[in-house]
This record gives sequence, C-alpha cells and structure tokens, in this order.
Amino acid sequence: MFLETKGTSDWWDGACVYQIYPRSFYDSDSDGVGDLRGIIKKLDYLAGKPESLGINAIWISPFYPSPLADFGYDVSDYRGIDPLFGSMVDFDRLVQEAHLRGVRVIIDFVPNHSSNQHTWFKESLSGRESPKRNWYVWKDPKPDGSPPNNWMSVFGGSAWEFEESSQQYYLHTFLKQQPDLNWDNQDLRKEMKEIMKFWLEKGVDGLRIDAVSWLSKDLQFRDDPVNPRYRENIDDSYHKLLHTCSSQGSKLFDYLNEMIDVCRGYENKFMITEAYPDVQGEISHYLKYYQRLNHNICIPFNFECISFPWDAGTYKNFVDLFQEALLPGQPAIYNMGNHDKSRLASRLGRDSAKTAAMLLLSLPGIPFIYYGDEIGMQDVYIPKNKAKDPFTTPEGVGRDPSRTPMQWNEYMNAGFSTTEPWLPLSTDYKQCNVESESRYNESFLNLYKDLIAFRKQSTVLRVGAYQSLELGKNIYGFVRENLTDKVTVVLNFSNETEIIDSKALKGRVVLSTYRDIGSNFNLNGHLKLRPHEGVFIAPS
Ligand code: GLC
Ligand code: MG
Repeated sequence: MFLETKGTSDWWDGACVYQIYPRSFYDSDSDGVGDLRGIIKKLDYLAGKPESLGINAIWISPFYPSPLADFGYDVSDYRGIDPLFGSMVDFDRLVQEAHLRGVRVIIDFVPNHSSNQHTWFKESLSGRESPKRNWYVWKDPKPDGSPPNNWMSVFGGSAWEFEESSQQYYLHTFLKQQPDLNWDNQDLRKEMKEIMKFWLEKGVDGLRIDAVSWLSKDLQFRDDPVNPRYRENIDDSYHKLLHTCSSQGSKLFDYLNEMIDVCRGYENKFMITEAYPDVQGEISHYLKYYQRLNHNICIPFNFECISFPWDAGTYKNFVDLFQEALLPGQPAIYNMGNHDKSRLASRLGRDSAKTAAMLLLSLPGIPFIYYGDEIGMQDVYIPKNKAKDPFTTPEGVGRDPSRTPMQWNEYMNAGFSTTEPWLPLSTDYKQCNVESESRYNESFLNLYKDLIAFRKQSTVLRVGAYQSLELGKNIYGFVRENLTDKVTVVLNFSNETEIIDSKALKGRVVLSTYRDIGSNFNLNGHLKLRPHEGVFIAPS
C-alpha cells in the first residue's frame, strides 16, 4: 500500500489540468462567444506568472467546424477550426503561447460520431453503393418497417433514424445530427488515426477521447436488455435499458489500443478516455480500462465523485477501494466537474465546494478543474427561451447551467464580452468574479492557488502513497507519503465543528480551507476543525 503511485517523468504525472469550455471562457472579438484568441489572452491568468492559478495543462472542449447542434461535439471537419472560434493560425499560436508558459495542451477528440453535415456523411447518404456508406452504421428496417433493434439515443428516443431515399436506418447514439461512425471499418479507422497525427504533429500534448463506450457495438446488433433497476421518473430514460449490446463491444479495447499506438509514435503524448459506467459505482468498469489499455499513456476518467452524496464515508470507502485496486503506476483521474454536469458549488454548496477542492487537489492521480470552479461559480438558471443545449434531463434542465460565461470582473457582461453573451450570466457575477476573488483572503481563488502551489512543490501529494485514516463519521482523512515526506489531509464533511482525537494527527497545520492558520500551530493527537474545514498537516 505504501508503494509510490508512480514516479516517472511523464508530464501528466500528478499534473493539474484545467478544462476550458471555449465558448464560455473569453470572447476576444465581441460576438458574444468565447474563442481561441480569448484563451490566449487569458493564459497569464492560468500559468506563467507569480499571481497565476498555476495549472500544468489545459483541456479545450471542441473548436472544430461544426453546425453546433451539440455545441462542437458534432464535428463537420476534423482538421479545421470553426471560424466562430478563430483560425488555424490562432490555434498554432495558442499551442505556442501555452508551451511558453509551461502549459500542456489537451484537445477533445470526438471519434464516435461526426456531424451529419460532414462530407463523409453526405457521401454516405448518397446511396447504398457509396464508398463512404460503411463509414457509418446503416441497417435495414425490421420486416414491419420498425428500427433494426431497441437501441436508444443517450439524448432520448430511438438511436435509429430512417432515411427515405435508401430505405435504411442509420445509427446515432446522440442527436440525429450526430451519426455514429463505424469503427469496424478499417478505412474509417485509418483516417481517424491520420487525424490524430495531424493534431499531435501540431504539438498537441494530449487527447481527451469523447464518448468511447460506443466505439464498438455488438457484432450481431442484438437488443439491449431491460434494466431491472430502472426507476421511472427518477432515472434518465436512457437507463431503461442496460447498454450491453449497443456499447462496450468486444473490439473496444482493440480500437483504443490502435489510438494509443498512434500516440506511442511520438514522445510524451497522453490520452484520457470518457466512459461512464452503465451501473454507478462499478469499479470493474474502470479497471478494465487500466487492464486492457496501456496505462502509461491512456487513463480513464473516474466519474463516481460527480454523483456521490457529500458524505465522508462514501468518499472514503470508494477511494479506498479504488486505490487498493490500482497497481503502482496506474494513476486515477477523479473527476468532480465538467461541462456535462451540475457545478461543484451548486451540487455541494459553496462551503463544501472548498472542502471538495482540497480533496480533489490532494487525492492521488491527476486532478481536473472545470473552468470557473476555482472562483466558486454556480449553475445559472436559464429561462426556457434562452436555453441552448439540445439535451434535457427529466427535470427539464439541460447542461447550459454549468456552461455559462466565465466571470472575470464586476463590469459589463462580467468582463467576458463587450456584447450580450451566448448564454445568460450568473446574477451573482458582481460578487463572484476573478477580480473580486483575488482581493479577499478567504476566497475560492486564493484557496485554489494555494492548493495548486502546494501540490506543485509536494512530491507526496502528486505521486506519494495513499492510506486513509479512521477519524469519525463526518471526517475523511488520509495520509500521502513516501520515504522522506508526509502530508496528512483531514476534511470535515459536516457543517459543525468537529473535534478529533487520534494519535495519527501529529505535526502542524500548513494549510486550511479557511486560509488563516499560522504555520507553527502544533498538534498533539488532537485537532479541532471548523464547519467544512479541511487542513493539510505536515510533520513538525
Ligand atoms: C460527451 C461530451 C458531451 C457530448 C457527448 C456527445 O459525453 O462530454 O458534451 O454531448 O459526448 O459527443
Ligand atoms: Mg468571439
């Protein structure tokens, strides 16, 4: 258990990654939509200056040409930049400027589906004989004319769309404007790998691979079984079925390994896969990605922490199990927020969101920070007439609330744009913005800066061993250590003061989520934590 989790010199080892949703980061050309030049303008905020946040890498959600049916996750040209976001010259400069500041660049790669406006799909539509026909998934109707099987779209309804002229259905796991590419077709795979090379040769350091679960399907296209645990009106309708046939097919890891081989043709390239388990909490789902793929290069996101209730025991049990299951050299990526989920500060409340920030930045592995979480941004109420996201949950909300413009200052449009932004701003932006957060001591932003800086200088936080402590019902505590150093992390999950007596708590508090602990505070097996407080303890 006390083996170090890694210890190689890969840049992603313990690195801190910042996710940018480019539409909402910074608008440089006053059209209300964030863009690549906007990201360049804000790089100093992220890294390279003493006052920067201090992150090591950025992951930029899609910026490719796209009809934007799913806001860029419907790509119509895999080798281009949508004019809305800028040009290839801007992209090259972005990579160069990021690298100058020591920031690695990870881009989103969307291999499972293209846009229906991609020339490949248009060719594919032209008839059964088209050379691109098999780059997508076409099937005959059942004898009664109904879809080939019961597969569902993640966004609701059947995953099949009937196409009149050829009298066949095509498959779309997401919107009907996002037809699934057929990875069983060798030519398609070859072209997708060429596209990966195109970006890697531009100097991109890593790829976040979108929606990988569906890259391989049941070869016989059998029906998905019914999910016996589905809760009507509670669960998303997609979970009516278990997706054992429509996803996670037998070739999945072969295809991902082919992508990994492309990365291995270069130095220092990294991949992260996006695959939610069909059944929540299923550790074996994640472990397959470690076991079947080259984890020196490719690591799966772990999404469990996004849906857990804020309960110390739940987190402790899960992380214990997961860390125990990982072998040395297999880092975790515990994800706590992204562009598809409700924001951290809204899910947990602002106080607990600080405790969660400390947890995220002190767990083993590679922390990903979703833009705006570092200033405590919350989900924004979006009136129906302003809604943009095509996907809506049973509660009638889409993913817009967590995709609103970054709040830079208290002035017009929160300093995001000089014109009305594409999504409404939060009403709290006058209080919650980068400038105001920089000014007051106990802010989210200052805490994130402290945590990131601490992690940067602390080998044990980045790659040390993990061992949890038994400290009481509301407390999650763990030790990160190696042969020469040790940091003890203690987090109060409750909104009450907690007094903890444990021989394990010796040394001095070096960082508190309240940001007001003197460095010579001495503990002797006794610690008092304020509501929601988290602390780092170092040996005295
Ligand atoms: C992933 C993306 C999500 C997108 C979907 C389809 O889950 O994170 O935003 O809608 O894939 O590409
Ligand atoms: Mg713009």
